[in-house]
Amino acid sequence: MGAGSPVDERDLPLAAGDRWRFECAEALAFLRSLPSSSIDGVITDPPYSSGGATRGDRMNATSLKYVHTGTIVQRHEFAGDNRDQRAFAYWCALWLSECLRVAKAGSPICLFTDWRQLPTTIDALQAGGWVWRGIVPWDKGPSARPQMGRFKSQCEYVVWGTSGASPDLESIGCLPGLFSERSRNDDKHHMVGKPTALMQEIVNICPREGVVLDPFSGSATTGVAALLEGRRFIGCEITESNYAIGRERLEACAADVSLEAHRAGQLALL
Ligand SMILES: C[S@@+](CC[C@H](N)C(=O)[O-])C[C@H]1O[C@@H](n2cnc3c(N)ncnc32)[C@H](O)[C@@H]1O
Repeated sequence: MGAGSPVDERDLPLAAGDRWRFECAEALAFLRSLPSSSIDGVITDPPYSSGGATRGDRMNATSLKYVHTGTIVQRHEFAGDNRDQRAFAYWCALWLSECLRVAKAGSPICLFTDWRQLPTTIDALQAGGWVWRGIVPWDKGPSARPQMGRFKSQCEYVVWGTSGASPDLESIGCLPGLFSERSRNDDKHHMVGKPTALMQEIVNICPREGVVLDPFSGSATTGVAALLEGRRFIGCEITESNYAIGRERLEACAADVSLEAHRAGQLALL
Protein backbone atom coordinates (compact mmCIF):
# COMPACT_ATOMS: atom_id res chain seq x y z
CA MET A 1 0.00 0.00 0.00
CA GLY A 2 1.46 3.42 -0.92
CA ALA A 3 1.83 6.34 1.50
CA GLY A 4 -1.49 8.12 1.87
CA SER A 5 -3.55 5.15 0.56
CA PRO A 6 -6.77 4.71 2.52
CA VAL A 7 -6.64 1.94 5.15
CA ASP A 8 -8.86 -1.03 4.29
CA GLU A 9 -10.91 -1.77 7.44
CA ARG A 10 -10.82 -5.49 6.52
CA ASP A 11 -7.06 -5.48 7.30
CA LEU A 12 -7.65 -4.20 10.85
CA PRO A 13 -8.44 -6.45 13.85
CA LEU A 14 -10.57 -3.73 15.47
CA ALA A 15 -12.31 -0.75 13.93
CA ALA A 16 -10.15 2.35 13.39
CA GLY A 17 -10.30 4.54 16.49
CA ASP A 18 -11.49 1.71 18.79
CA ARG A 19 -9.26 0.74 21.71
CA TRP A 20 -10.77 -2.67 22.46
CA ARG A 21 -12.96 -5.44 21.15
CA PHE A 22 -14.20 -8.39 23.21
CA GLU A 23 -16.46 -11.19 21.99
CA CYS A 24 -18.20 -14.18 23.49
CA ALA A 25 -16.78 -16.72 21.05
CA GLU A 26 -14.81 -19.93 20.63
CA ALA A 27 -11.11 -19.16 20.27
CA LEU A 28 -10.30 -21.03 17.04
CA ALA A 29 -13.34 -19.65 15.23
CA PHE A 30 -12.57 -16.14 16.50
CA LEU A 31 -8.90 -16.36 15.47
CA ARG A 32 -9.86 -17.58 12.00
CA SER A 33 -12.00 -14.46 11.56
CA LEU A 34 -9.05 -12.10 12.14
CA PRO A 35 -6.91 -10.62 9.34
CA SER A 36 -3.36 -11.95 8.89
CA SER A 37 -0.37 -9.98 10.28
CA SER A 38 -2.58 -7.57 12.21
CA ILE A 39 -1.69 -8.16 15.90
CA ASP A 40 1.26 -6.75 17.86
CA GLY A 41 1.43 -9.40 20.60
CA VAL A 42 -0.36 -12.45 22.03
CA ILE A 43 -0.68 -12.64 25.79
CA THR A 44 -2.86 -15.45 27.01
CA ASP A 45 -3.74 -17.76 29.87
CA PRO A 46 -5.38 -20.83 28.31
CA PRO A 47 -7.05 -23.55 30.40
CA TYR A 48 -4.12 -25.67 31.64
CA SER A 49 -5.98 -29.01 31.61
CA SER A 50 -4.10 -29.61 34.83
CA GLY A 51 -5.15 -29.25 38.47
CA GLY A 52 -4.54 -32.88 39.43
CA ALA A 53 -1.95 -35.61 39.42
CA THR A 54 -4.08 -38.17 37.60
CA ARG A 55 -6.34 -38.16 34.58
CA GLY A 56 -9.32 -38.70 36.88
CA ASP A 57 -8.45 -35.55 38.87
CA ARG A 58 -8.29 -33.51 35.69
CA MET A 59 -11.78 -34.49 34.64
CA ASN A 60 -13.26 -32.84 37.77
CA ALA A 61 -15.25 -29.60 37.60
CA THR A 62 -12.98 -26.53 37.69
CA SER A 63 -14.45 -25.51 41.06
CA LEU A 64 -13.34 -28.84 42.61
CA LYS A 65 -9.85 -28.55 41.09
CA TYR A 66 -9.05 -24.93 41.78
CA VAL A 67 -10.95 -23.71 44.84
CA HIS A 68 -8.97 -24.83 47.88
CA THR A 69 -10.23 -22.66 50.70
CA GLY A 70 -13.63 -22.12 52.18
CA THR A 71 -13.00 -18.37 52.28
CA ILE A 72 -13.00 -17.88 48.49
CA VAL A 73 -16.29 -16.62 47.09
CA GLN A 74 -17.98 -18.85 44.52
CA ARG A 75 -16.87 -18.07 40.97
CA HIS A 76 -18.12 -19.32 37.62
CA GLU A 77 -16.96 -22.63 36.16
CA PHE A 78 -14.81 -22.25 33.05
CA ALA A 79 -14.40 -24.31 29.89
CA GLY A 80 -11.81 -26.49 28.17
CA ASP A 81 -9.85 -27.65 31.22
CA ASN A 82 -10.13 -31.44 30.91
CA ARG A 83 -8.25 -32.50 27.80
CA ASP A 84 -5.92 -35.45 28.17
CA GLN A 85 -2.23 -34.80 27.55
CA ARG A 86 -2.05 -35.62 23.85
CA ALA A 87 -5.28 -33.77 23.02
CA PHE A 88 -4.03 -30.74 24.98
CA ALA A 89 -0.76 -30.64 23.03
CA TYR A 90 -2.50 -31.05 19.67
CA TRP A 91 -5.19 -28.46 20.45
CA CYS A 92 -2.61 -25.89 21.65
CA ALA A 93 -0.61 -26.33 18.44
CA LEU A 94 -3.78 -25.63 16.41
CA TRP A 95 -4.66 -22.31 18.03
CA LEU A 96 -1.01 -21.30 18.39
CA SER A 97 -0.54 -21.63 14.63
CA GLU A 98 -3.61 -19.41 14.06
CA CYS A 99 -2.12 -16.88 16.52
CA LEU A 100 1.07 -16.95 14.45
CA ARG A 101 -0.87 -16.19 11.26
CA VAL A 102 -2.56 -13.14 12.78
CA ALA A 103 0.64 -11.83 14.46
CA LYS A 104 2.88 -9.30 12.74
CA ALA A 105 6.46 -10.48 12.06
CA GLY A 106 8.61 -10.24 15.19
CA SER A 107 5.64 -9.99 17.60
CA PRO A 108 5.97 -11.52 21.07
CA ILE A 109 3.81 -14.27 22.59
CA CYS A 110 3.46 -15.02 26.33
CA LEU A 111 1.59 -18.12 27.55
CA PHE A 112 0.78 -19.05 31.12
CA THR A 113 1.20 -22.60 32.34
CA ASP A 114 1.93 -24.61 35.50
CA TRP A 115 4.73 -27.08 36.30
CA ARG A 116 2.79 -30.09 34.98
CA GLN A 117 2.10 -28.58 31.57
CA LEU A 118 5.37 -26.64 31.16
CA PRO A 119 7.13 -29.18 28.87
CA THR A 120 4.00 -29.70 26.72
CA THR A 121 3.34 -25.96 26.45
CA ILE A 122 6.91 -25.31 25.26
CA ASP A 123 6.58 -28.09 22.66
CA ALA A 124 3.19 -26.81 21.49
CA LEU A 125 4.50 -23.23 21.12
CA GLN A 126 7.19 -24.50 18.76
CA ALA A 127 4.81 -26.88 16.96
CA GLY A 128 2.63 -23.81 16.31
CA GLY A 129 5.60 -22.23 14.48
CA TRP A 130 6.77 -19.73 17.11
CA VAL A 131 10.40 -19.24 18.12
CA TRP A 132 10.67 -20.22 21.80
CA ARG A 133 12.73 -17.61 23.68
CA GLY A 134 12.42 -18.43 27.36
CA ILE A 135 10.43 -18.92 30.57
CA VAL A 136 9.69 -16.30 33.22
CA PRO A 137 8.47 -17.67 36.59
CA TRP A 138 5.56 -16.00 38.32
CA ASP A 139 6.21 -16.25 42.08
CA LYS A 140 2.78 -16.18 43.76
CA GLY A 141 4.28 -15.67 47.23
CA PRO A 142 5.21 -17.95 50.16
CA SER A 143 1.62 -18.73 51.13
CA ALA A 144 0.85 -20.38 47.75
CA ARG A 145 0.10 -24.12 47.64
CA PRO A 146 1.94 -25.51 50.72
CA GLN A 147 2.51 -29.30 50.82
CA MET A 148 3.58 -31.13 54.00
CA GLY A 149 7.06 -32.63 53.53
CA ARG A 150 7.25 -31.44 49.92
CA PHE A 151 8.21 -28.27 48.01
CA LYS A 152 5.48 -25.68 47.59
CA SER A 153 3.97 -25.16 44.14
CA GLN A 154 4.70 -21.46 44.57
CA CYS A 155 5.24 -20.55 40.92
CA GLU A 156 3.44 -20.64 37.63
CA TYR A 157 5.31 -19.91 34.40
CA VAL A 158 5.15 -17.58 31.43
CA VAL A 159 6.49 -19.34 28.34
CA TRP A 160 7.42 -16.74 25.77
CA GLY A 161 8.60 -16.48 22.21
CA THR A 162 8.41 -14.45 19.02
CA SER A 163 7.03 -14.70 15.54
CA GLY A 164 10.39 -15.14 13.79
CA ALA A 165 13.27 -12.77 14.44
CA SER A 166 12.73 -9.89 16.87
CA PRO A 167 12.73 -6.38 15.42
CA ASP A 168 14.58 -3.43 16.94
CA LEU A 169 13.39 -3.35 20.57
CA GLU A 170 14.93 -0.10 21.87
CA SER A 171 11.52 1.39 22.64
CA ILE A 172 10.51 -1.58 24.83
CA GLY A 173 13.60 -1.48 27.07
CA CYS A 174 14.69 -4.26 29.47
CA LEU A 175 11.94 -6.32 31.10
CA PRO A 176 12.05 -8.44 34.29
CA GLY A 177 13.06 -12.14 34.35
CA LEU A 178 10.84 -12.91 37.36
CA PHE A 179 7.37 -11.69 38.37
CA SER A 180 6.49 -11.52 42.08
CA GLU A 181 2.85 -10.69 42.55
CA ARG A 182 0.27 -12.05 44.99
CA SER A 183 -3.35 -12.65 44.09
CA ARG A 184 -5.81 -10.54 46.06
CA ASN A 185 -9.44 -11.52 46.49
CA ASP A 186 -10.60 -7.98 45.63
CA ASP A 187 -8.71 -8.21 42.30
CA LYS A 188 -9.85 -11.72 41.35
CA HIS A 189 -12.81 -11.86 38.98
CA HIS A 190 -12.37 -15.42 37.68
CA MET A 191 -11.72 -18.75 39.42
CA VAL A 192 -8.11 -18.69 38.20
CA GLY A 193 -7.90 -14.97 37.34
CA LYS A 194 -4.47 -13.37 37.23
CA PRO A 195 -3.52 -10.24 39.23
CA THR A 196 -3.99 -7.09 37.17
CA ALA A 197 -0.57 -5.74 38.25
CA LEU A 198 1.09 -8.93 36.95
CA MET A 199 -0.60 -8.57 33.57
CA GLN A 200 0.39 -4.86 33.45
CA GLU A 201 4.04 -5.93 33.71
CA ILE A 202 3.62 -8.52 30.96
CA VAL A 203 1.80 -6.39 28.38
CA ASN A 204 4.83 -4.08 28.40
CA ILE A 205 6.48 -6.55 26.02
CA CYS A 206 4.09 -5.22 23.32
CA PRO A 207 4.66 -1.80 21.73
CA ARG A 208 2.66 1.17 23.03
CA GLU A 209 -0.57 1.59 21.04
CA GLY A 210 -0.07 -1.97 19.73
CA VAL A 211 -2.95 -4.46 19.64
CA VAL A 212 -2.68 -7.20 22.31
CA LEU A 213 -4.60 -10.43 21.60
CA ASP A 214 -5.96 -12.81 24.28
CA PRO A 215 -8.12 -15.64 22.84
CA PHE A 216 -8.75 -17.13 26.34
CA SER A 217 -9.65 -13.93 28.13
CA GLY A 218 -11.73 -15.16 31.08
CA SER A 219 -12.52 -12.01 33.05
CA ALA A 220 -10.41 -9.94 30.59
CA THR A 221 -7.52 -9.16 32.95
CA THR A 222 -5.12 -9.01 29.97
CA GLY A 223 -7.44 -6.48 28.32
CA VAL A 224 -7.73 -4.30 31.41
CA ALA A 225 -3.93 -4.36 31.82
CA ALA A 226 -3.45 -3.49 28.12
CA LEU A 227 -5.75 -0.46 28.36
CA LEU A 228 -4.09 0.72 31.60
CA GLU A 229 -0.68 0.48 29.91
CA GLY A 230 -1.63 2.40 26.76
CA ARG A 231 -2.06 -0.64 24.50
CA ARG A 232 -5.17 -1.71 22.59
CA PHE A 233 -6.91 -5.05 23.11
CA ILE A 234 -8.79 -7.75 21.26
CA GLY A 235 -10.00 -10.97 22.84
CA CYS A 236 -12.67 -13.59 23.28
CA GLU A 237 -14.10 -15.86 25.98
CA ILE A 238 -16.35 -18.86 25.44
CA THR A 239 -18.41 -18.91 28.66
CA GLU A 240 -21.16 -16.31 28.87
CA SER A 241 -20.80 -15.76 32.63
CA ASN A 242 -17.05 -15.00 32.50
CA TYR A 243 -17.51 -13.00 29.28
CA ALA A 244 -20.11 -10.75 30.98
CA ILE A 245 -17.70 -10.04 33.86
CA GLY A 246 -14.85 -9.29 31.43
CA ARG A 247 -16.97 -6.98 29.32
CA GLU A 248 -18.07 -5.00 32.37
CA ARG A 249 -14.46 -4.65 33.53
CA LEU A 250 -13.31 -3.45 30.09
CA GLU A 251 -16.12 -0.90 29.85
CA ALA A 252 -15.30 0.49 33.31
CA CYS A 253 -11.55 0.53 32.64
CA ALA A 254 -11.90 2.21 29.23
CA ALA A 255 -14.09 4.92 30.80
CA ASP A 256 -11.51 5.50 33.59
CA VAL A 257 -8.59 5.58 31.16
CA SER A 258 -10.29 8.08 28.87
CA LEU A 259 -11.25 10.25 31.87
CA GLU A 260 -7.60 10.21 33.01
CA ALA A 261 -6.42 11.09 29.49
CA HIS A 262 -8.93 13.90 29.38
CA ARG A 263 -7.72 15.25 32.74
CA ALA A 264 -4.09 14.96 31.63
CA GLY A 265 -4.96 16.92 28.49
CA GLN A 266 -6.57 19.66 30.57
CA LEU A 267 -3.57 19.84 32.88
CA ALA A 268 -1.26 20.12 29.88
CA LEU A 269 -3.23 23.17 28.74
CA LEU A 270 -2.85 25.00 32.06
C1 LIG B 1 -7.31 -19.67 32.65
S1 LIG B 1 -8.78 -18.88 32.19
C2 LIG B 1 -8.29 -17.18 31.88
C3 LIG B 1 -8.39 -16.31 33.09
C4 LIG B 1 -7.94 -14.89 32.81
N1 LIG B 1 -6.51 -14.79 32.65
C5 LIG B 1 -8.39 -13.93 33.90
O1 LIG B 1 -7.54 -13.30 34.55
O2 LIG B 1 -9.62 -13.82 34.11
C6 LIG B 1 -9.05 -19.50 30.58
C7 LIG B 1 -10.37 -19.12 29.96
O3 LIG B 1 -10.45 -19.65 28.64
C8 LIG B 1 -11.81 -20.00 28.40
N2 LIG B 1 -11.85 -20.97 27.29
C9 LIG B 1 -11.64 -22.30 27.34
N3 LIG B 1 -11.73 -22.86 26.12
C10 LIG B 1 -12.03 -21.85 25.27
C11 LIG B 1 -12.22 -21.78 23.86
N4 LIG B 1 -12.13 -22.86 23.10
N5 LIG B 1 -12.48 -20.57 23.32
C12 LIG B 1 -12.54 -19.44 24.08
N6 LIG B 1 -12.37 -19.44 25.42
C13 LIG B 1 -12.09 -20.63 26.01
C14 LIG B 1 -12.29 -20.57 29.72
O4 LIG B 1 -13.70 -20.55 29.85
C15 LIG B 1 -11.57 -19.67 30.72
O5 LIG B 1 -12.39 -18.62 31.17
